[in-house]
Amino acid sequence: MLGRTRPPVLVTRRLPQEALDRIVARCEMTLYDGDGAIPRDRLLAEVAGKAGAITLLTDRVDNEFLDAAGPQLTVVANCAVGFDNIDVQACTRRGVLACNTPGVLTETTADAAFALMMAAARRIAEGDRFVRSGAAWIWGPLMMLGQDVHHATLGVVGFGRIGQALARRARGFSMRVLYHDIDRPPAEVERELGAEYRDLEDLLRESDFVSVHVSLTPQTRHLISAGRLAMMKPTAVLVNTSRGPVIDEQALAWALKQGQIFAAGLDVFEREPEVHPGLLACGNAVLIPHLGSATIKTRLAMADLAADNLLAALQDSRPPALLNPEVWERRALSG
Ligand code: DGY
Repeated sequence: MLGRTRPPVLVTRRLPQEALDRIVARCEMTLYDGDGAIPRDRLLAEVAGKAGAITLLTDRVDNEFLDAAGPQLTVVANCAVGFDNIDVQACTRRGVLACNTPGVLTETTADAAFALMMAAARRIAEGDRFVRSGAAWIWGPLMMLGQDVHHATLGVVGFGRIGQALARRARGFSMRVLYHDIDRPPAEVERELGAEYRDLEDLLRESDFVSVHVSLTPQTRHLISAGRLAMMKPTAVLVNTSRGPVIDEQALAWALKQGQIFAAGLDVFEREPEVHPGLLACGNAVLIPHLGSATIKTRLAMADLAADNLLAALQDSRPPALLNPEVWERRALSG
């Protein structure tokens, strides 16, 4: 398609310029450059007639979107590894290639999860707020005591790329690593990372730190429920850099307030960008605005991979990170 014309494409938010330049060189690009996410009505209007779109986790790609786009839509390239905003089955039914950006943000997101563990355990954000408040203080043996990270037990829920990268960091802190996943990795991975499998309930009971790295699906919604929070140690720290709805936020706010667990570090929220008022009121919750992959290098790598996916699909090559390979195979068969 690319060789013949400059196909029209939509990019729903400003991305690093290098990636936009690559798209503009090959396509007729419409860029939504407003503040914040593109409003839904604008998204549906702008996608009409496009051959491809680069979308974000804030854009819902569903039947309504696909209807608005029209049958010429070839590819939706999400600039995120998570794709719970995309109805992949609907894309597949209509022969639309759906893509994401795995791999390039693994280490950066694992860094963020580790940073949240440290910040929540050692009360870093709370200490910062305290110093800035101007309150009188002097060093004291019982002042703002936290939890040790080194030599503690880390439970990783979801042992894919990011979960494993976190486990690798934990080894540097002499932590014991437990994990839970529906898929067990090969024995060499367990050995290399010194990670032991547990069922979820045992992991929650044994861990000093629990870090969540599962995709959001109907099965993982509220995976960390009130009942499961109650299984955790009162000294435990819960970290989430995956998707907000994996944790029941109301139950977590209650658990933090009651001291059922020690602290939480959250990058993502159930009704993002809204944050549960109960969490805002908890000094023992470290809250950051979905920054897991937010470094200059990684955001460029994500945008580049999204552009690779878009441009490949538009020049009849297999996109490097394809979520529905069956669409590609069907195309190859129909010539
Ligand atoms: C993703 O890629 O899914 C993150 O949530 C944003 O980097």
